[in-house]
Amino acid sequence: MTLREAIKTRKTSNGHFEPRPVSIEHQRMLIEAAERAPSHFNSQPWRFVLIDDPLVRSKVATIGGRTMTQLIEGGTFFTRYRKYFRFSEEEMNERRDGIFIDQMPLALRPFIKQVFSDNVMNVLSKLGVARLLGEDNRKLIEGSPLLLAVLLTKEEYKPGELSGYYCTLSAGMAIEHIWLMTGDLGMGIQFISTPMEIPEAWQELKRVLEVPDDLELMAVYRLGYLPAEKQRPRIDWRSDHRKKLSQIAFRNTCATPEADAPSTL
Ligand SMILES: Cc1cc2nc3c(=O)[nH]c(=O)nc-3n(C[C@H](O)[C@H](O)[C@H](O)COP(=O)(O)O)c2cc1C
Repeated sequence: MTLREAIKTRKTSNGHFEPRPVSIEHQRMLIEAAERAPSHFNSQPWRFVLIDDPLVRSKVATIGGRTMTQLIEGGTFFTRYRKYFRFSEEEMNERRDGIFIDQMPLALRPFIKQVFSDNVMNVLSKLGVARLLGEDNRKLIEGSPLLLAVLLTKEEYKPGELSGYYCTLSAGMAIEHIWLMTGDLGMGIQFISTPMEIPEAWQELKRVLEVPDDLELMAVYRLGYLPAEKQRPRIDWRSDHRKKLSQIAFRNTCATPEADAPSTL
């Protein structure tokens, strides 16, 4: 796979993975890819926890499932993130960002916007939709043969200071290296973000992972080999849409948008 292909085909995997374990060799390749990333003064502030023990995975999965249910049930998820959902192809084609809701059951489509209103969410929650999505999430995490926690050493990571910003940039680059490497290994990867949205759940997760005081837990991912047959999840939290050059790039100063051109990838 060329680097260009790796970049072009990189995506979020939000379906099930094969149950077979990720080989130790591949796990080490992921970490080695991460540590090839740049960091300020070569400080390498990142740390990683490779989680393949079913018991620990199941504890993380329980927290992941429960927080998904809590966020949807309490309405937090949709009030916080409604702005990222696109409801028509026209809207998607114009903005070219966010998540296009194109997988609603046919009967619900005329009411698509209302489906995301607080009232309807309350009704859906009562119908058990929140628990259903939480349970989907729990199963996806528990069934992932490998979870990966990304941490930063507090010796370097000082939020609010420049070093905090540099650390966050470095961690992002390390994660992207892992992400690209998963593509080369026939694997998929997905961010597990719901525990992060509920501070008590994040603390609980830190206790499960026995995170010491001198490390900060930054992110958790689920990984595994991709099955031959992929099933789209109930809600597809990802998108291939990308903005045009003229929407994101400028020439020389911010006053001149870059001209659009056909994709080079
Ligand atoms: C900071 C950050 C947070 C994200 N949070 C989630 C998440 O909670 N769940 C998820 O499935 N994907 C998450 N994603 C993945 C994005 O939804 C995804 O990158 C985007 O829709 C584009 O899809 P693609 O990665 O397949 O190209 C996150 C990505 C980033 C960089």
